[in-house]
Amino acid sequence: MTESKEARHPVLKVRDLKVYYETPKGDVLAVDGINFDLYEGETLGLVGESGCGKSTAAMGILQLVVPPGRIAGGEVLLEGHSLLGLPENMLRSIRWIKLALIPQGAMNSLNPTMKVCDQIKDVIIAHEGKRARKDIRQRILKLLATVGLPGRVYDMYPHELSGGMKQRVCIAMAIALNPTIIIADEATSALDVVVQRIVAQTLLKVKQALGVSMIMIGHDMGLMAQMVDRIAVMYAGKIVEIAPVADLFANPRHPYSQLLIESIPSLKERKPLKITEGITHDPRNPPPGCIFQLRCPFVMDKCRVVAPPGLEVKPGQIVACHLYQENKDGSMVNVANAAGNT
Ligand SMILES: Nc1ncnc2c1ncn2[C@@H]1O[C@H](COP(=O)(O)OP(=O)(O)OP(=O)(O)O)[C@@H](O)[C@H]1O
Ligand SMILES: [Mg+2]
Repeated sequence: MTESKEARHPVLKVRDLKVYYETPKGDVLAVDGINFDLYEGETLGLVGESGCGKSTAAMGILQLVVPPGRIAGGEVLLEGHSLLGLPENMLRSIRWIKLALIPQGAMNSLNPTMKVCDQIKDVIIAHEGKRARKDIRQRILKLLATVGLPGRVYDMYPHELSGGMKQRVCIAMAIALNPTIIIADEATSALDVVVQRIVAQTLLKVKQALGVSMIMIGHDMGLMAQMVDRIAVMYAGKIVEIAPVADLFANPRHPYSQLLIESIPSLKERKPLKITEGITHDPRNPPPGCIFQLRCPFVMDKCRVVAPPGLEVKPGQIVACHLYQENKDGSMVNVANAAGNT
């Protein structure tokens, strides 16, 4: 990521977004006040352990939260316009035309009784109305080619396709109406590593061909390193760090980001699997203060009382952790290692 922050134009702004699920024992604070911008043409990775709220965040952005879930606060601005409170018919067209989702497990949501061509055709006709059959056919064949699928897939049923092919059909459906933003939720999970790479390459190719911005949700840090411009690290409903990908890998600042990077297996250096002490708190009853305090190796008294605000420790690298403080002269200091400025 080489562009300066000033030169970039945010297509999506997420501000203090909160999505809660109502349960008999209280609300699950699945997404609890997240903030980030998605810039034009960039790919932002959203990572974090299972259950930290990644899919819920995607649903919140798309206004697709259904009961027992609810948007409990915040704002989502698409090209400067708030999506919250828009009528459902407007949201429906925005969802495909502007903000397309490849949902988690998308390949299993294809209709088994419909040919691939008919499923893609439905998306186009639903939003653009009837079109000449020949035009639709050409368009679908072009979409299939864009995602690297042969023309014969046009007349096939989902059960005749491999997992990777099905996933690419889902990508073709997501880009059918030329969206501005694609949110890909675990688009490469549940595929073998070779097919994972192929699907990831397909996404990247599509992104470059269409010039879209993308939010890529996933677990695979290795894949993220190759695919994204910036990474947002989520823990228990909060974004704890957001940074350009090179900075996050070279110098992760939040203790949870450090743990994620340390846990990437390496062939060069065999290291013991790092087990984190402590447990994740009950998401219905987070402790006051920092969200990571129960598992943090550097926890201080302050962490149990005050929630750390996001601090820009380096241009573009924002971390929510009391380990970092701003000096009076504006420089940053790591309080655990006060001798060395960070
Ligand atoms: N319908 C629901 N009712 C109650 N809690 C829910 C519901 N759906 C999700 N949750 C809770 O919300 C939290 C976030 O779930 P979410 O699916 O967003 O996580 P995720 O980060 O996408 O996980 P994964 O990596 O496994 O896909 C979890 O604690 C989950 O248990
Ligand atoms: Mg998920």
